[in-house]
Amino acid sequence: MDKMYARIVGTGSYLPARRVSNEALAAQLAQNGIETSDAWIVERTGIRARHFAADHEFASDLALQAAKAALEMAGKTAADLDLIIVATSTPDMVFPSTASILQRKLAELGGAHAGVIGAPAFDVQAVCSGFVYALTVANSMIASGAAKRALVVGAEIFSRILDFKDRTTCVLFGDGAGAVVLEASAEPGILACDMHADGRYTNILCVPGHVDKGQILGDPTLKMDGQAVFKLAVGVLEGAARAALEKAGKTTDDIDWLIPHQANVRIMQSTAKKLKLPMEKCVVTVDQHGNTSAASIPLALDHAVRAGQVKKGQHLMLEGVGGGFTWGAVFLRF
Ligand code: ACO
Repeated sequence: MDKMYARIVGTGSYLPARRVSNEALAAQLAQNGIETSDAWIVERTGIRARHFAADHEFASDLALQAAKAALEMAGKTAADLDLIIVATSTPDMVFPSTASILQRKLAELGGAHAGVIGAPAFDVQAVCSGFVYALTVANSMIASGAAKRALVVGAEIFSRILDFKDRTTCVLFGDGAGAVVLEASAEPGILACDMHADGRYTNILCVPGHVDKGQILGDPTLKMDGQAVFKLAVGVLEGAARAALEKAGKTTDDIDWLIPHQANVRIMQSTAKKLKLPMEKCVVTVDQHGNTSAASIPLALDHAVRAGQVKKGQHLMLEGVGGGFTWGAVFLRF
């Protein structure tokens, strides 16, 4: 059998309607005696605004909108899919998976979409590396012949797990979703993946609470040692990009666009510098979206595609890093 690559044939994204600027967030926090400012947030993170989901919205609703846009760009219906993976750390429920719920919502669109029922659907939980992990799994399944057309989504509602009394974390995150449709093709495609975890660092970024006998035990909001995360993130992102390039037989000169996880513009600048890439080659959306965890890479990709920055045939380096501690890279020809 000829080698099969997984090629991105459609991208889509969705941001909830409510946009919250730094000024608006600072004013909201001030009502509870929490002090922050647009100047502090911009200087330390590059974030200027984020979107927050409405009370009635769930991760699967955001995922559905992103998926519809990606399918439309691909010229496909949900019935053409034989694999659905959702990367999320803020699932609709403990179970079933957000991917199963998304499948139902896709089928409920009616018409040809109803034929999506039967395709395997599952979630991947690797926090901010979730999309890179999910893409790697989908790529492996397509390369092995186990799937022909996959929907890979990153969808998050981090606003539900933020402690709005903790200014060191609540200013950083936002809600959103991004999606890609991957198709088996003789043409590349995903060229190389690199994926890692170091479970010794579970405590530097976590939501420690859990459900126990009908109650939540422990704190159900996000806790982070920001400086520890920063140091680890910068170190591992360079390594993952170089490892993926080596596997693909390419060098940093071959990267047209670096699309890193959008956590903090300073992490992105450090990574680009270590890879000797000018910031003009780095897609940046964190200023408008905040950190949307598993959604950040497909959101940034879709924005860059629709803005005409990323063009067919270009080489992209996608990089994720986050809780776990997890990290990884996917190098691909768009
Ligand atoms: N507004 C105003 N002041 C603040 C705020 C805020 N929102 N948050 C913290 N401060 C204050 C602190 O209290 C501290 O005051 P002090 O000096 O009087 O004690 C001062 O600002 C400096 O705080 P630091 O924590 O040292 O600030 P730092 O420069 O490290 O920036 C930040 C904090 C932005 C979190 C940084 O550590 C960082 O970017 N870390 C990476 C973490 C990250 O991006 N995580 C995202 C999730 S993980 C991922 O996606 C990879």
